[in-house]
Amino acid sequence: MTRRLAPTDVTLGMYVQGFEGSWLSHPFWRSKFLLTDPEDVLLIHASRVEAVLVDEARSTVSFVGEKVAAAEPPRAGNVARRWASSEPPAREVWPVSDPHAADRARATKVAGASKKVMKRVFDGCRLGRAIRMDEVTDVVASIEDEVDRNRTALIGITRLKSKDEYTYLHSVAVCALMVNLAREIGLKETEVREMGLAGLLHDVGKMGVDEAILNKPGALSEAEYVAVRRHAEIGHAILEKGGEVPDRVLDVCLHHHERLDGRGYPHRLAGDAVSLAARMGAICDVYDAITSRRSYKEPWTPVETITAMEQWAGHFDPNLLFSFMKSIGVYPPGTLVRLRSNQLAIAMPNGRRGSRPKMLAFYSTCDREMIEPHSIQLADHLGGDGVISREDPDRWGLSDWPALRDHLMGVKFAA
Ligand SMILES: [Fe+2]
Ligand SMILES: [Fe+2]
Repeated sequence: MTRRLAPTDVTLGMYVQGFEGSWLSHPFWRSKFLLTDPEDVLLIHASRVEAVLVDEARSTVSFVGEKVAAAEPPRAGNVARRWASSEPPAREVWPVSDPHAADRARATKVAGASKKVMKRVFDGCRLGRAIRMDEVTDVVASIEDEVDRNRTALIGITRLKSKDEYTYLHSVAVCALMVNLAREIGLKETEVREMGLAGLLHDVGKMGVDEAILNKPGALSEAEYVAVRRHAEIGHAILEKGGEVPDRVLDVCLHHHERLDGRGYPHRLAGDAVSLAARMGAICDVYDAITSRRSYKEPWTPVETITAMEQWAGHFDPNLLFSFMKSIGVYPPGTLVRLRSNQLAIAMPNGRRGSRPKMLAFYSTCDREMIEPHSIQLADHLGGDGVISREDPDRWGLSDWPALRDHLMGVKFAA
């Protein structure tokens, strides 16, 4: 049964079947969807539509007389969201569940435990002690385990870093990003582990740099800058002294500040002379540094960071950077991609609700023709839809791509 409701009578759990009035009077690009987000409910309340058509059978709330009653009791532990009203509430509003709360709690635990170990390891290096490999490989194993459960929870948690814990948590974050990227490009298990270890230890040389310089709030002098840049070689020497460190880990430690155009340090390596491991290290290192919240700077969002990194010509390997985007599920808005579901889609601005990828599919690669635009929720798991590759619009005959791109990016999402 379809019910016709005033916009202000719409609640969470209702299945919207359509809107009455001009499509210009509501902000959604589609008109059939289940209301699961309180912000969407508020958008409908504030819209100028004449009425909202609600499909009772597909709703998850039951309709009793004029009121709407919850079909099942609210689940414990959920976050209740209500909005102010001068009228007494006419209906029960369901709490909004947070399916990622458990992942975040577990990732917080892993980050805290890893940080503790890394502080002990790095403080030991400062005192001239050798690194115990069993200790750090255990940290990599727990981070790897966490990334395998949820690709981005740990990376999100470690963005917040105080001055005192920056180096340790940065190491944990770069380890997680390296493991994630290594998995994305299909490296073998032993290589994934080594890349994770490389991320964890890439900045160990900072333990050999004067702390007053590392923590200096203002601009560095030329001499101080040279001292900071020496951390790559110092770290390499510390790891070499330990004896049993894999070559890839030594390589990343020494070369994670090299650039493909030869303008990096310490050896100004260029092109193929920069190994895959060092290229991966450069991307993961810069991404975490820019997205981190520090006492002296606001963090950039993942999308802002990825967009900027893509524009730094000569710095990163572009193919590897695209694999990195896939590994964290973040794309510069306007990027044209091909999906596993045989469609072309455009990356949309993510809005203010985090960094989940939003894609608008608009072209069938099988039929080679435009299709009605519809949103795609990219899946973290195999079997769901996902990005295969970046595409050239000319290859698909999308000749006026800038105009089409701008048009598609003007479409708004419902959720
Ligand atoms: Fe570094
Ligand atoms: Fe770093």
